Amino acid sequence: MRRPDMFKLLHLSDLHLTPPGVALHGLRPDMQLECCVSDILVDHADADLCVVTGDLTHDGLPLAYHEVRRQLMRLPMPVHVMIGNHDDRTAFRSVFPEACAADGFVHQVIDTDAGRMVLLDTHEPGSAGGRLCEVRLAWLRARLAESGSDPVYLFTHHPPVRVGLQRMDAICLRDAEALMAALLPFRERIRHLFFGHLHRAVSGTRRGLPFSGVRGTSHQIALDFTTPHVAPVSFETPGYGVVFIDTDSIVVHHAEIKPQR
Ligand SMILES: [Fe+2]
Repeated sequence: MRRPDMFKLLHLSDLHLTPPGVALHGLRPDMQLECCVSDILVDHADADLCVVTGDLTHDGLPLAYHEVRRQLMRLPMPVHVMIGNHDDRTAFRSVFPEACAADGFVHQVIDTDAGRMVLLDTHEPGSAGGRLCEVRLAWLRARLAESGSDPVYLFTHHPPVRVGLQRMDAICLRDAEALMAALLPFRERIRHLFFGHLHRAVSGTRRGLPFSGVRGTSHQIALDFTTPHVAPVSFETPGYGVVFIDTDSIVVHHAEIKPQR
């Protein structure tokens, strides 16, 4: 039983859904998402919020987005989705219009009991790496400035930090310095950065700001610090983050997805 003053956040990422029944790397992303949702219904149905940090689909196909929506609608808590480099903004918008801002980007704020969740769109069509144009940076600065004294939690698909995995570092957030410049004036209120893209559980700090990334619910990326040009797929157990937030601490657990239950 969690304490009543604790905010419980679920962090999912990198679903990489293909149309139902279509395999990817010998795996079935649709079945793995189904197992993930079933796990959550048993173990974490009491969560306050679920955020999915992109790569909802592998090829941006509408059929895959419909399956993502169908699966996530089984969850009882509010669920907010973002896009990653494997997504297609037009197809995404056709299935998740409520997640798109009037300016066309998939960014939004969610004000919760724990503070302000800022979901930032780092997708750049045609690029595996992430970008932040001046429109998005201005949007971010405005959302930070208007949030008063509230704690802030930032969500992106692309990591704003290099982690030592050569191929993934080559396609991380290319405008991470600009992001840091936008964040640092508010550093006292920014409590955590959450991201996906790496398909690995990782944590650390950058300029004193704590961050964490989670495994994909689909395939993983090998812990390989030497291969330069490819991201070696691995078949480690998929997972997601279970985050406890209170006024004093943030604790990130990495839950494994069980094959069936
Ligand atoms: Fe991914």
